Amino acid sequence: MTNATTMMFNFEAAGYTRRRLVPCFDGFYGAALRALELAEPGPLRAVLDLGTGTGALAAMVAEAHPDARLTLLDGAPAMVAEAAATLGPRAAAAIVQDFGDPLPTGPFDAVVSALAIHHLDDAAKASLYARAHEVLRPGGVLVNAEQVLGATPVLDALLRRWHEREARTLGTTEAEWAAAVERMRHDRCATADAQLEMLGAAGFADVSTHFADGRFAVLAGRRAA
Ligand SMILES: C[S@@+](CC[C@H](N)C(=O)[O-])C[C@H]1O[C@@H](n2cnc3c(N)ncnc32)[C@H](O)[C@@H]1O
Repeated sequence: MTNATTMMFNFEAAGYTRRRLVPCFDGFYGAALRALELAEPGPLRAVLDLGTGTGALAAMVAEAHPDARLTLLDGAPAMVAEAAATLGPRAAAAIVQDFGDPLPTGPFDAVVSALAIHHLDDAAKASLYARAHEVLRPGGVLVNAEQVLGATPVLDALLRRWHEREARTLGTTEAEWAAAVERMRHDRCATADAQLEMLGAAGFADVSTHFADGRFAVLAGRRAA
């Protein structure tokens, strides 16, 4: 099912670029991979990627975890198609659906997500975290590499200025930044602290921020064994 946000991403699937718009790209995605080590016991075999986009995070998880097969989920058909092509036989399933729809039942060793859940309002975020908790096996981990809100309006404005400055320093063109600003108009970011609370309320243990740089944070929690 597509909504206004997923439709927008559907049109932008081709040539979608991330590195210049996420200035801390390597540290950010690297921390998400590291946080997967919270899962006990390993190895990771079944992993669900929420808002898979073109499959950037899914591909990194597949490379880091040779036993893992990825269930790719996104509301934009073109994104899912590109992610499935990238993952090839490492994709267990490629599912076009909205985050509000029932999740595949799993059980999963890990549920991962990058830069997607901030498209939901806070009630929908909390609901998705609770449903992600349900489809994890005991000891399984949720890792969300996310764009977050600054703790106050003044701090948020500062983070936005840093983001623009760093993206431009990395060579983001006028057109790319304008397109990013247009996409970000649809964002419903929450602070890292608010989302740690949501994870705790959803039943996750060991909730923590594993990375924070400007507007980018990696949040994780584990389903109690
Ligand atoms: C920035 S992209 C994802 C990037 C990707 N995870 C990566 O690591 O490169 C955000 C994705 O979230 C998806 N999305 C946003 N809102 C959604 C919703 N309500 N249901 C399903 N997918 C959604 C969009 O279609 C888009 O593909």
